[in-house]
Amino acid sequence: MIKQAIIPLAGLGTRLLPLTSVFAKELLPINGKPGLEYILDECVEAGIEEIIFIISKKKKMIKNYFYNDSFYKKIIKKKKDPRIINEYKKILKYKKIIKFVYQNKPLGTGDAVLRTEKLIKDKYFLMLLPDDLIIKKNCSKDMIKICKKQKTSVMASMKVSKSNVSRWGIFSINRKIDKNNFLIKDVIEKPSIISAPSNNAVIGRYILPKSIFKKLKKQKPGKGGEIHITDSIRELIKDGKKFIGHKFLGKYLDCGSLNGYIKSGIEISKL
Ligand code: G1P
Repeated sequence: MIKQAIIPLAGLGTRLLPLTSVFAKELLPINGKPGLEYILDECVEAGIEEIIFIISKKKKMIKNYFYNDSFYKKIIKKKKDPRIINEYKKILKYKKIIKFVYQNKPLGTGDAVLRTEKLIKDKYFLMLLPDDLIIKKNCSKDMIKICKKQKTSVMASMKVSKSNVSRWGIFSINRKIDKNNFLIKDVIEKPSIISAPSNNAVIGRYILPKSIFKKLKKQKPGKGGEIHITDSIRELIKDGKKFIGHKFLGKYLDCGSLNGYIKSGIEISKL
């Protein structure tokens, strides 16, 4: 039912400087494997058949990573190292299912989503934000199940500390569906502590409806002058479209900040 996923990858990664000065943050290793591969594995395991990367000219390195098969071939010819052969096969497998679109100006996540419009085929598609790793349980897989059952859009969520609400999209609850799923009443991008309706944060897994594109086209820049996906979701909710907040069962790792990135490696090494 949900066969396509999109991954915004055009961000500058300034929170991870100096590591991102000449390197794409999504390719930084986490316990010996590029962070992006954890996200791809989650997609494939959840039944996703096509993944659309939104990159920029500056992040061309990400495309090169998946299109470097001739280099692998040369190495393998000289040395039949089974580990390298395995890596080569993995890269080939990914290459087959990845498509690329470009967002050359960092205009926000909403703008990134809009770039994929022509490629999206079905009523719903998955979006994963690569800064957010969720381990121990496949969050995308669980959300796809919920979407199938409830026939609605879904967003991953977790409670955050009240002092930190302005870092996240924050939503209020209309009603509880079951222990881990709520119908969302409203969602606000990075509210101040005073204006936050709760401390329920949106985490980077979304099952979005195709109808979001219509809203995105009309979306005016919001917080920080960027086009936010949150603002278009809010518009859809106002129109009566249902969105479920799914309290995911896995463990959240924040790979977008230097401290979080270091901790992620330690956590994953313990698995
Ligand atoms: C984005 C979204 C925000 C969400 C967050 C999850 O923010 O805009 O609503 O809570 O991802 O990680 P960003 O991390 O791009 O600032």
